[in-house]
Amino acid sequence: MGFSTPSPKILTSRYHLEDSFTLPVAMKAGAYAVAREVIGKKSPESIRDEVKKGNLRGRGGAGFPAGVKWGFLNPRPGQQVYLVVNGDESEPGTFKDRTILERDPHRLVEGILISCYAIGAHKAFVYIRGELRFGQLRLEKAIEEARARGFVGPRPFGVDYPIDIVVHSGAGAYICGEETALLNSLEGRRGEPRIKPPFPAVEGAFRQPTIVNNLETIATIPGLVEMGGEAFAALGLVPGDGGTRLYGVSGHVARPGVYEAPAGLPLRELIYELGGGLLDANRQLKAVIPGGSSTPVLRPDRLVKASDPQHPLHAWDGKSEIDVPMAVDLFRALGTMLGTCCATVIDDSVNMVEVTRNLMRFYRHESCGQCTPCREGTGWLVDVLDQIAEGRGKPSDVDLLVEIANNMMGNTICAFADGTAMPLLGMVRQFEEEFRAAVAAGRPLDVRHDTTTRAAFQGGNR
Ligand SMILES: Cc1cc2nc3c(=O)[nH]c(=O)nc-3n(C[C@H](O)[C@H](O)[C@H](O)COP(=O)(O)O)c2cc1C
Repeated sequence: MGFSTPSPKILTSRYHLEDSFTLPVAMKAGAYAVAREVIGKKSPESIRDEVKKGNLRGRGGAGFPAGVKWGFLNPRPGQQVYLVVNGDESEPGTFKDRTILERDPHRLVEGILISCYAIGAHKAFVYIRGELRFGQLRLEKAIEEARARGFVGPRPFGVDYPIDIVVHSGAGAYICGEETALLNSLEGRRGEPRIKPPFPAVEGAFRQPTIVNNLETIATIPGLVEMGGEAFAALGLVPGDGGTRLYGVSGHVARPGVYEAPAGLPLRELIYELGGGLLDANRQLKAVIPGGSSTPVLRPDRLVKASDPQHPLHAWDGKSEIDVPMAVDLFRALGTMLGTCCATVIDDSVNMVEVTRNLMRFYRHESCGQCTPCREGTGWLVDVLDQIAEGRGKPSDVDLLVEIANNMMGNTICAFADGTAMPLLGMVRQFEEEFRAAVAAGRPLDVRHDTTTRAAFQGGNR
């Protein structure tokens, strides 16, 4: 599968324009044309149908189909439906949503208008990570411009369907990206996840039926609706994952950044074509964290084992793990997750025990502390990793790491603990020999403090 033909640009088609974030420039390049065409003119149901047909998998991490999620709404008479846009973007290694805020906020505003109309909402909240101040200001300005033109407000495009948009800034907690912690934070409560059910579509913001979608998911809506669900679905390189999406690539690559490409691009092409290959050509690719820090690591020298013709990965049997298309279901079958589709590339200068320790420190710091297995487990993982890294580890410590992680999985209110345990288990499974060697060495790890990888894990490049 080559990537030599230029791929259609849906999300980034205006990124290169000077002042692309302003209303006149965005409108000259097509902004709001789709919203004007559909709001009050097409039925909300027909738009929801297109989104369903488009196989738009949520871009926030779990890859849930957006059209199916929208179908869960069933408001009772008198209830308000809300749209909540998740722009918390705090997963280490992930830095795609911020580009939409900074380069083309009007695409998000248009996506919000169409989505609100399609799901029966009159109010949308955009929850933005506190550190993304620059992007937030650009979005606020864009909403102001759109309001002045009457696109946002009581009669968008002259249609009697009021839509208001409220921007809310987070205060720098990763957990507030989890949708129900986000809702609590939005309501002015402590940012702690809620027990589910009820799911947000039944009881979400202010106890009203709410759709929570990732910022990129909503920004994709104008493009999807413009081209139609079937054509959008056909852009994906594998069935079940429609459209184009934003790929991030950082770490040891020559051209770190955000690129738009069809869903289902193999990691190898992301790294070697879009990312320009390894930063230091004399180094070997050692590992890739494929979709943000919660996704289990892949190894280029590990081959897919799927000889059974019924296996979802049969077509890649015997190929490298990094040749599998980056698609939600295929990556799950591979034992990892597509997550946010932002890959962190690691060359052979890096010690994987130290990478794991660095990651686990992040999770220890960010656990909200509500559930004991997560609050205690994240701390214990760091303690054990510290012992190993400092040369005081015991052979049983590697198994202890696995045991702690297994006791965290599935035993908490939200997926934060799983998102900590899964990458830990992935690291130990893929690089067990390196953990055992660190224990056997009995001395502190000889770690080169690599600023590139650290920068990637501390929020990515711009
Ligand atoms: C700890 C944690 C952090 C999360 N952070 C984000 C985030 O920053 N942005 C996001 O869109 N989704 C995040 N999610 C996923 C959301 O809970 C939710 O699934 C997502 O916003 C749904 O949008 P989508 O269906 O469009 O992907 C996070 C989940 C967890 C468990």
